[in-house]
Amino acid sequence: MKVCIVLGTRPEIVKMAPLVRACQRRSVEFILIHTGQHYSYEMDRIFFQDLELPDPQYNLNVGSGTHGKQTGAILMAIEKVLFDERPDAVLVQGDTNTVLAGALAAVKLNIPIGHVEAGLRSYDRHMPEEINRVLADHISDMLFAPTEVSRQNLFKEGIEPTKLHVVGNTVVDALLQNMEISNRRSKALNELGLRPRGYLLGTLHRQENVDDPARLRGLVDGLVSCAKEFQLPVILPLHPRTRKNLSNFAIVIPDEVRVIDPVGYLDFLQLEANAALLLTDSGGVQEEACILHVPCVTLRDSTERPETVMVGGNILVGADPKRILDGAREMFGRGRDWTCPLGDGNAAERILDIILSH
Ligand code: UD1
Ligand code: UDP
Repeated sequence: MKVCIVLGTRPEIVKMAPLVRACQRRSVEFILIHTGQHYSYEMDRIFFQDLELPDPQYNLNVGSGTHGKQTGAILMAIEKVLFDERPDAVLVQGDTNTVLAGALAAVKLNIPIGHVEAGLRSYDRHMPEEINRVLADHISDMLFAPTEVSRQNLFKEGIEPTKLHVVGNTVVDALLQNMEISNRRSKALNELGLRPRGYLLGTLHRQENVDDPARLRGLVDGLVSCAKEFQLPVILPLHPRTRKNLSNFAIVIPDEVRVIDPVGYLDFLQLEANAALLLTDSGGVQEEACILHVPCVTLRDSTERPETVMVGGNILVGADPKRILDGAREMFGRGRDWTCPLGDGNAAERILDIILSH
């Protein structure tokens, strides 16, 4: 049995790490293919170091580009690797261009595909991620849904029930495997001069939010309003896409929002766990907030993680500054006693069991 694990972006490195670990533990042969969709040190290499992952056997170095160019470049390059390696299964995770291209290359070579984190739906087809996840789901052979909600989404789309497996989300595995290491090793709070619950933590990078100048301005205004209301700084580790756009749109970030470079996983876990509140448009951050019992305000119009809202750990507010502030006030006052619906930390082991018996 030989499994190809495909990854290319920051969240995929985090969420595939437990599968790499599981393969190592059980001596399952695996080949790690990095598409190179993310390549800056703080979006890529630092995660391999923090998570102590082996170097990928292949780095396709595709880099950035338009959707067509990036997806096409990955498709062509992965096809060649799969052709040479002839694995028994290809694993993709999530909803990036790396996932779509990896799944497409595999399906055309008749290699079984396992889609990790299958069945998430925002029901907003303007989001590139929604297109990628729908297409990847419909060409996959093993669909690893994190929750019953995501399994139902797939069932309603007519995907054969025998292909669907509710396993939990590997984001829980990664967090549980690394929180103690983060507690021991990270000095992020000290280095940034922060005290527990003495700051708000923000992240922003989704295309629909940060490629539109008016929307990005509204989001920045919303963060500033929250900082003023709670008399706490907003720490904003800035994604390179957002940094580029703020500069192109000449948007200046006021002092209430402290911009820093993106940080590694171990430092980010500390920043999340100790924040008074998270304000984000990230998928992974919504999940980690829910696992860590830190209230989350989601700066989007829809979420493909409705379970986090249902249990009371998350609220959807869009990009309007007033709604952001109202949502932050509501979440600030909420209890933190929800039960996390995203899994028990054994998703990767279950996924590997299913692949091995496929
Ligand atoms: C991608 C995913 C998104 C995911 C995000 C995780 C798609 C369609 N989008 O968005 O779903 O939430 O990753 O972070 O796959 N850049 C760098 N260094 C890097 C990577 C990117 O400077 O290492 C800059 C480049 O200017 C690039 C821009 O960021 O053009 C956007 O990168 P890209 O990979 O196209 O999309 P993300 O916004 O990162
Ligand atoms: N993350 C990180 N450092 C940061 C911001 C995020 O380590 O400065 C981690 C975070 O813990 C989560 C993942 O990156 O595991 C989320 O990635 P991102 O928000 O880029 O993508 P999304 O989840 O929205 O696809």
